Amino acid sequence: MNASLTADPSSVSPSAGRLLAGRVALVTGGASGIGRAACLSFAREGAAVCVADRDLDGAKATVAAIQAELGEALAIQADVASEEQVRGMLDQVTRHYGRVDCCFNNAGIGTLETHSRGKSLADVEFGDWQRMLAVNLSGVFLCLKYELKLMGQKGGSIVNTASIAGLTALPNSAAYVASKHGVVGLTRSAAIEYGHLGIRVNAVCPGHIATPLLGASDPEKERLLWSQNPMGRYGTAEEIAELAVWLSSDRASFINGAALTADGGRLAGR
Ligand code: NAI
Repeated sequence: MNASLTADPSSVSPSAGRLLAGRVALVTGGASGIGRAACLSFAREGAAVCVADRDLDGAKATVAAIQAELGEALAIQADVASEEQVRGMLDQVTRHYGRVDCCFNNAGIGTLETHSRGKSLADVEFGDWQRMLAVNLSGVFLCLKYELKLMGQKGGSIVNTASIAGLTALPNSAAYVASKHGVVGLTRSAAIEYGHLGIRVNAVCPGHIATPLLGASDPEKERLLWSQNPMGRYGTAEEIAELAVWLSSDRASFINGAALTADGGRLAGR
């Protein structure tokens, strides 16, 4: 490692007392929705944030928002479905900061992008199934693989974004449900394999959150979804970001292998 290329994160986040002061964080899907909200929350809690996304302009916009609040951030373009690009993403993190302490593997796609919205299992095209699994499941596998290597013996925290669809079936969403059940399984596997090295691996399982992933707002669909939720509303990206930040902090030091719901109670009555 060329030391001159390596920024000292403590020099850019000097304020002690914040949950993640002096830490280096990596967030995938940081250009939009939950990922963008998480990048801002990680930065406010004192972390230097590597904002990764396939959408470089969006990642740069997140970086600009962090810098406007005097935070430290770096934009990285990476498609998490590509092993070469995930390896390159972790190389950039290493070149810039020398290490990573907190990873939020959050990039993902929904049924809208994979043309499988509203389709029964038998009507889902194989190519659309493969695309869903490539991003949502293999993407998390690849990130874990290279993050765990980089964290090595030093310890750290990894949070993966699953979904309530990782814990229960939702109608007409077979590929999404399978991908998110896989994320919960990967999370638990990594947790039992790496806990002895001081690396905690957990999953967040959001209910319906108001982000572009849900698609254009449809009052009828909203009424139905809200009627199924004890709190009668969508969650916000910021509410999931809070959970990711807390899980990444020392406040959650004995939480490992958990799949925590943040769903307004949607699954509580099942
Ligand atoms: P979003 O669409 O606002 O953000 C997703 C981000 O991931 C975008 O910036 C997109 O460019 C990026 N992305 C997509 N594919 C990528 C790839 N191959 N490589 C790198 N970046 C990629 O969606 P949202 O809602 O913020 O989703 C974030 C995560 O939360 C996803 O894993 C999603 O499945 C999960 N989730 C979302 C829920 C919701 O209701 N919005 C509910 C439960 C889970």
